Amino acid sequence: MSSSPAEVAAQYATERHLRTRIGTHERYSVGPGLEATVDRLLDLSGDEALLDVGTGPGDFPGRLRQEGHRGRIVGVDFSAGMVERAAEKYPDVEFQQGDAAALPFAEASFDVVTARHMLYHVPDVAAALAEFRRVLKPGGHFLAVTNALGYMAELWEAVAEAGAVEPAVNALLDSKAGSAVFSEVQGEELVRAAFGNVQLDFIENALVFATPQPVLTYLESMTALQSLAPDELERVRTALTHAVETRMQGGEWRVSKRVVFITARR
Ligand SMILES: C[S@@+](CC[C@H](N)C(=O)[O-])C[C@H]1O[C@@H](n2cnc3c(N)ncnc32)[C@H](O)[C@@H]1O
Repeated sequence: MSSSPAEVAAQYATERHLRTRIGTHERYSVGPGLEATVDRLLDLSGDEALLDVGTGPGDFPGRLRQEGHRGRIVGVDFSAGMVERAAEKYPDVEFQQGDAAALPFAEASFDVVTARHMLYHVPDVAAALAEFRRVLKPGGHFLAVTNALGYMAELWEAVAEAGAVEPAVNALLDSKAGSAVFSEVQGEELVRAAFGNVQLDFIENALVFATPQPVLTYLESMTALQSLAPDELERVRTALTHAVETRMQGGEWRVSKRVVFITARR
């Protein structure tokens, strides 16, 4: 089940909570980096016209421009708040509000289309992939980045354990279910159906935590916990802290992250 458009809109109305999660990944990750893998797979010359769909705060297009990409770069996002923020931060990139399933571009407009950690939010993934293919030039390159099955399994086990003690914690499990709807399994099948070809690559890395606080901050950035009453949130925090602390008794706690890169050619 993907999130409803209203839930996605509420979750990404501003970049604040997404920034918290991005910051956690930046600070606590160990292992091969996502950006290096994206760069290796896209192998850009710098002249391509590139569209990043579900661009969020626009960091990927912004990075490409800062690194000297000369071709047209466009970031599209469903959220007007994200688009506004991205345009302020990266004025030399074009940003537009738009829906992945109805892109505001003529066919064969881009050499590269990327969709990073966004297809699990889209209600009709096949429609979005058909749009990505339509706006790509013949021979153009598509890249999706998503979470593989079992992504952060250790974290979700801790959440489930806390949920057995404090049922309000279980609202968090919707985020886990949401992110599982476009993994390597459905992703490979859907991208092959849309493009007639597909390639999968993986990286294995992890978050390593030495104290419970960053784990709590990460979980509290999820929509599920934002509507709780203060006393309920306090009980949720206590249950989660206990489940996480138990796992840190041997020192650091490692939460594995397997990321999948799905590429195809038009
Ligand atoms: C998890 S964030 C990823 C942001 C960025 N790509 C990154 O990797 O940091 C998902 C983004 O997809 C956007 N999004 C969700 N559904 C969308 C749709 N149907 N069309 C365009 N953007 C969408 C959300 O507004 C949000 O900014």
